[in-house]
Amino acid sequence: MFDQIHMRTIDLKYLPIIAVGFPLVFLVLNAIYQLYFSSLSKVPGPWYCAISRFWLAKVSLQGRRIFAVHELHLKYGPYVRIAPNEVSVSDIDSVKQIHSSHNNFSKPLWYADVANGVKSAFAIVDCEAHKARRKAYGTVYSNTNMSLLEPVIRKHISVCVGKIKRDLNHGPVDILRWFRFMAADIVAELCYGKDMDMLNKEAVNPIVEDLTILLTIGGIRAEIPGLNVLESLISLIPHPTIKFITGCSKRIFDYSDDVLSEFQEKIKEDRDNSLGPFLFTKLINNMNNLNEKYRLNFDEIRHESTANLIAGSDTISTTGTYIIWAILKHPNVRKKLEDELKTLAGEITDAKLQQLPYLKLVTKEALRLYGAGPGGMPRIVPPGGWRLGPYYFSGGTGVSSQGYTQHREAAVFEDPYAFRPERWLNPTKEMEAHMVPWGGASRTCPGQNLAMIELRLIAALFLKECPDSVLAESCTDESMEFINYFNIKPSRNKCEVRKRIAW
Ligand code: HEM
Ligand SMILES: *[C@@H]1O[C@H](CO)[C@@H](O)[C@H](O)[C@H]1NC(C)=O
Ligand SMILES: *[C@@H]1O[C@H](CO)[C@@H](O)[C@H](O)[C@H]1NC(C)=O
Repeated sequence: MFDQIHMRTIDLKYLPIIAVGFPLVFLVLNAIYQLYFSSLSKVPGPWYCAISRFWLAKVSLQGRRIFAVHELHLKYGPYVRIAPNEVSVSDIDSVKQIHSSHNNFSKPLWYADVANGVKSAFAIVDCEAHKARRKAYGTVYSNTNMSLLEPVIRKHISVCVGKIKRDLNHGPVDILRWFRFMAADIVAELCYGKDMDMLNKEAVNPIVEDLTILLTIGGIRAEIPGLNVLESLISLIPHPTIKFITGCSKRIFDYSDDVLSEFQEKIKEDRDNSLGPFLFTKLINNMNNLNEKYRLNFDEIRHESTANLIAGSDTISTTGTYIIWAILKHPNVRKKLEDELKTLAGEITDAKLQQLPYLKLVTKEALRLYGAGPGGMPRIVPPGGWRLGPYYFSGGTGVSSQGYTQHREAAVFEDPYAFRPERWLNPTKEMEAHMVPWGGASRTCPGQNLAMIELRLIAALFLKECPDSVLAESCTDESMEFINYFNIKPSRNKCEVRKRIAW
């Protein structure tokens, strides 16, 4: 009896030591394993990256993953261990192997977390399922089909630039804000046959706000394991703000349900084809076509259209804003472009813009430095394992590559941080090989033809309509520094231009 009581006091005394000691022993053993025995222990990198994912999650949540990983590449070379089970690769041959359509490197579930319930081509993890999804798209995004949509695209850009021109009479204008309205209106009209009414109302559509909330939560969840448990607990709290936030994906899908149903009706009634082509007309027509092997059902189309709305909005507004910024910042570039544009007779159309050689150099250089998706694109080594350069990686290892680093390879691009369209006059093979503004081959951006039409028209119509615009004082190199949450955008979230003052 006495002995038992005595034992218990000893137990209690050691409890804190045991509580701290066991996890500590585990952490130390894990660290030793990761640093000296794991199959990635030979890959260079800081010790704190090797022993926990904390560093990578931290820099990701701070919006500076591309910079942090870039610095590691400058310090450690083309292969860097950035987390216990993830290696960032910048060697171009290895990058091509990772992203080849034949090699079966799949996307990690990280993408499904980022997409937060929007189940589209972007978020499909499995290689075969993804190929089938892209086959369903077929020629929807082809250049020929996109050029049929050009008048719709041009209409919105022209309205947008007109409103910027109007506002320039009253002070500085934030072009990023206007390009956001424009890009969302364009891609919504192409997908749903109905725009977001943002250019017209000159305000953000609540659905677009919902999309931002959805992606912010997805981005955080992708970095913090176990957060979903906490989230489900929080969602039980009956507070209006929490209800609003947890309701956003339902509002988004209800909206796309409504507009797509309306669109479907319109297409059915359109016997004389007067509606014109839209991005998803073919997909909607094929929904019940049993002869079509890769048809999508209504629900899948709903998810795809939502994903397109996401993928085709902030990307365009960001890169469009940086193109204008770079042009206004470099008077010699601006002068050459303006001279080239003066050679065009009549209305500016994209068909004419495609013929302009200098505009081509400018858009290419803008995509090198300011493409909106330069971030780490993680992939998983296929089950059989894979050799990349000097290392053999076992199946399941995470490998990622980032366009940001490839686009700034000093051995390939002279003065890599400088905006110099002329470098593309005589590009080397290496320069072309290092350009990945649309991602890797297997999951390359299907919207790139559409994006190019938009970027050319943004540059040309802005210069034509706002010839006396200059960067406002608030727009500095610092304010235009990137913040990187998967995509990039200006860290101050704006880019103001103003009218040149006539002295
Ligand atoms: C300047 C504009 C754009 C840039 C820089 C850009 C860049 C990219 C990049 C880098 C990826 C690959 C992501 C990854 O593998 O992790 C991607 C994928 C994708 N993009 Fe774009 N994009 C742009 C505009 C658009 C537009 C306008 C649309 C649609 C209307 C679009 C739709 C998509 C889709 C659906 C995917 C997923 C593809 C897949 O995994 O099969 N993008 N984009
Ligand atoms: C990739 O997967 C497909 C289908 O499972 C298979 O036919 C192909 O051989 C694989 N490719 C490689 C390089 O393992
Ligand atoms: C795209 O264009 C092809 C011809 O190039 C056509 O057969 C196809 O139906 C079009 N797809 C659309 C509009 O979705």
